[in-house]
Amino acid sequence: MAELAPSVLAADLAHLGDSVAACEQAGADRIHIDIMDNHFVPNLSMGPEIAAACRRSTRLPLEAHLMVDNPDGIIPAFAAAGVDLITVHFEACPQLHRTVGVIRQLGASPGVGINPATPTRFLEQILPEVDLALVMSVDPGFGGQSFLGLALGKLQELRRMIAAQGLNCALEVDGGVDAGNAGACVVAGATVLVAGTSVFRAEGGIGAGVSCLLEQMGRSRGAARPLSAEL
Ligand code: DX5
Ligand code: ZN
Repeated sequence: MAELAPSVLAADLAHLGDSVAACEQAGADRIHIDIMDNHFVPNLSMGPEIAAACRRSTRLPLEAHLMVDNPDGIIPAFAAAGVDLITVHFEACPQLHRTVGVIRQLGASPGVGINPATPTRFLEQILPEVDLALVMSVDPGFGGQSFLGLALGKLQELRRMIAAQGLNCALEVDGGVDAGNAGACVVAGATVLVAGTSVFRAEGGIGAGVSCLLEQMGRSRGAARPLSAEL
């Protein structure tokens, strides 16, 4: 079963704890925290303190999505904040193999992400070292953008690569995910769907947003939460 990871970039940060608790209550599986440095992406978002605040607000696994150039220096702060999975970008890490090793040495699960224009084949070598591969379905930096359909083909390619190498690696899609494309993302092979706007800006509130997405993902209301394969 695919998992849902609401992105708190779209949350009302004045009520972050309550919003995160509402996601857990509604059946979300993990919390996605978007970290931006205004260098790798043209936006500045939040830091380890926000991750620590999320840690105090939920028992769900936390995943930090580092849209940051040369992230090695800040990875320890996110591990110390209690983040379970730390995703870095292929495009931002000149020593990606070493960076992935540092994340694992710190006790967190490593993930690697690729932007829309980055071919999936660039992940071939690093896939065996990570617990999650992230396909961006928007150009990173902002919530509320439209889903790029090219992500579906990339999910299928990575699904084949993961199977061909016999790996147990989660496959995540991130950006513009909503009720209209969630089902297609699951069919294409995604095992984790990130959703910001369609959860936190949903008509009817967070609970309605989560429930609607879970339904489109084939998760009946009240179905048991899947065991997170790699966290
Ligand atoms: C974009 C972020 C995404 C984004 C998702 O750079 O990585 O996680 O916040 O938000 P929506 O679902 O609104 O596109
Ligand atoms: Zn993200």
